[in-house]
Amino acid sequence: MEPVEINAGRCYLRAFRADDLLDDRVALVEAFGDEAMRTFVRQFRVDTIEDADNYIATRAREWENNERASWAIAEPTTGFLLGEVGLKNLSPSATAVPEAAIWVHPVARKRGIGEAALAAVVRFGFGALELSRIDYVCDDANTASAALAARCGFTHVGPTTTPDGAPAQRWTLTND
Ligand SMILES: CC(C)(COP(=O)(O)OP(=O)(O)OC[C@H]1O[C@@H](n2cnc3c(N)ncnc32)[C@H](O)[C@@H]1OP(=O)(O)O)[C@@H](O)C(=O)NCCC(=O)NCCS
Repeated sequence: MEPVEINAGRCYLRAFRADDLLDDRVALVEAFGDEAMRTFVRQFRVDTIEDADNYIATRAREWENNERASWAIAEPTTGFLLGEVGLKNLSPSATAVPEAAIWVHPVARKRGIGEAALAAVVRFGFGALELSRIDYVCDDANTASAALAARCGFTHVGPTTTPDGAPAQRWTLTND
């Protein structure tokens, strides 16, 4: 798949960038240094500009391989990075249900950015990708994430575990 841009109202969604006009790498390092990110987004470490380069390259490769569609959440006028949202488990060979994932930069939280971005990506998943179901998994202790899932219309399914074995809750949304 080719990365597409999405207008999500209070933010827009675009591919990550590291060029002369827009460079997301410093904001990525800042965001991944945040305590909530270290606690709840454990699959990735972005401690250095080189890590950020690798992270951006991984996301681009996942688009190419139809594995994961991910977007930088960007401020509408400046284009500055406000977070990331995506859909994973998209490959036809994936055994797990497609799942949404999101984080918002600490300076941009609690302003409705997460809700706007997640809602837009769900619409893209059901509309453009014709998915029938999208799940959302968050750690038991992640009250902000659970509130976001509820706000975006996901239904609580019940307990599950994260890939690294932490107790978590599964939410789901079907396209009906
Ligand atoms: C979870 C997260 C993405 C929410 O993003 P956000 O932009 O702050 O969320 P929004 O401002 O759109 O708020 C959406 C809903 O969640 C609620 N919410 C947001 N942060 C909250 C908090 N810390 N505690 C309780 N509720 C919270 C909001 O009140 C809103 O619900 P409401 O409209 O019914 O009041 C953000 O806190 C984050 O990036 N956390 C760290 C990374 C993370 O945990 N990612 C999810 C992994 S599963």
